[in-house]
Amino acid sequence: MGLKSLGLILLSVAAAAAQPFPDGPGKDLVEAVCTACHSQERIVAKRGTKAEWQSKVLEMLQEDPDITQQERDRIVEYLARSFPPRVNVNKAGAKDLAEALELSAKEADAIVGYRSENSSFKTVDDLKKVPGLDATKIEAHRDRLEF
Ligand code: HEC
Repeated sequence: MGLKSLGLILLSVAAAAAQPFPDGPGKDLVEAVCTACHSQERIVAKRGTKAEWQSKVLEMLQEDPDITQQERDRIVEYLARSFPPRVNVNKAGAKDLAEALELSAKEADAIVGYRSENSSFKTVDDLKKVPGLDATKIEAHRDRLEF
């Protein structure tokens, strides 16, 4: 293997480790504004609802006159969409489950009911076994699940 290809491999490893922000509207803005003081990893590690991101952005940017309200809204939208809260499927109540996983109230109740009669969920596949639950919704929100 030549030095050049080794260099390319190292570059791609470095890029993967940097965990770039997922694509979506507002990404460029967040990259420009939010990495002035710290790395992307600080942000990627955090999860929150829209309201939580809103107060985090306010805390970070405070009264900075260079960043308009419109830009702030765009940043919050991007963060809330890209880094939504996680939900513990063995502990969360029906309402939180419904909200985080975009389930119907009936589906969320089915999880809670199943959970109380069986042992706790250990994997995504365990969760998909709950009768009356749309497995595609679970799959779509896989990255929000905690066990
Ligand atoms: C003016 C500098 C500055 C800017 C700009 C900034 N931050 Fe921060 N941020 C900080 C400091 C200081 C900390 C605290 C560092 C620490 O705890 O080590 C921090 C920590 C964080 C944390 C981890 C702590 C926590 O509360 O979970 C997150 C998440 C975060 N910032 C998100 C953002 C986002 C999103 C933006 C863009 C809207 C942003 N930051 C822009 C200075 C900044």
